[in-house]
Amino acid sequence: MSLSFAKRLPSHRFLETHSIWLVVGIIIVVAIGGIVEIVPLFYLKNTIERVEGVRPYSPLELAGFNIYVREGCYLCHSQMVRPLRDEVERYGHYSLAAESMYDHPFQWGSKRNGPDLARVGGKYSDDWHFDHLRDPRSVVPASIMPGYPFLETTPLDYRHIAEDLTALSRVGVPYSQDMIDHASDDLKAQGAPDSSGAEDLQKRYPKAIVRDLKLDKREISEADALVAYLQRLGAQVDFKLYDDKANIR
Ligand code: HEC
Repeated sequence: MSLSFAKRLPSHRFLETHSIWLVVGIIIVVAIGGIVEIVPLFYLKNTIERVEGVRPYSPLELAGFNIYVREGCYLCHSQMVRPLRDEVERYGHYSLAAESMYDHPFQWGSKRNGPDLARVGGKYSDDWHFDHLRDPRSVVPASIMPGYPFLETTPLDYRHIAEDLTALSRVGVPYSQDMIDHASDDLKAQGAPDSSGAEDLQKRYPKAIVRDLKLDKREISEADALVAYLQRLGAQVDFKLYDDKANIR
């Protein structure tokens, strides 16, 4: 077959009898295909559709995100609801690209020893999360999740939070200089607000949930940051707006 092909197209004989040049030819052809498919994605404005409600993490939520990554929660939990009926019925609306556009590194994950967490925000109370992190079996008797009791006894180290914001701004997360300058104040305001702190925080980070830990005379702990982060997962977009329009579900 290939012989007759080479006969009909004599110029092909060269490629078919010189394997190195054949490989070079294949690479060139595949590269052209790749460029045609991939390059436009960098220029199309709607590669990631902007969605109302999605904003960068507040400093406290970001500190929680960093703890989530540090503790390897992604080894057992994914954060992506796939657009399949069983997933949507179990977890809620399937994930949109925009919902994780500010995650560096992204937390989609591929392992589900535990349930997907993309829509866990608002599903439980803060107290449930604290109990669950301290001792998962105290709230879910059959749980195989390890406890993280040290998180609530470890004060959050946020000396580098402004640098964290700066680093993310360099890779495209829209943190303004104002946000970076006030990172540490905003972090404190979300955990232990003074009179004006909470207002400023919510101006910079709409819908940030402020908790007054001063009432318990507690320092902001690692668990506080992690719970602030968990309570935000999947709670950014008001899907009712979209579902009514598109009549999904
Ligand atoms: C060894 C695997 C494993 C690791 C590591 C792990 N989890 Fe879990 N997680 C589970 C399992 C299994 C469940 C389901 C049982 C339960 O609710 O405890 C669960 C449940 C949860 C839930 C409740 C989800 C729901 O919708 O009911 C949250 C929230 C959660 N984990 C957060 C975390 C966080 C945060 C970390 C990291 C600090 C973490 N998990 C680390 C296995 C794990």
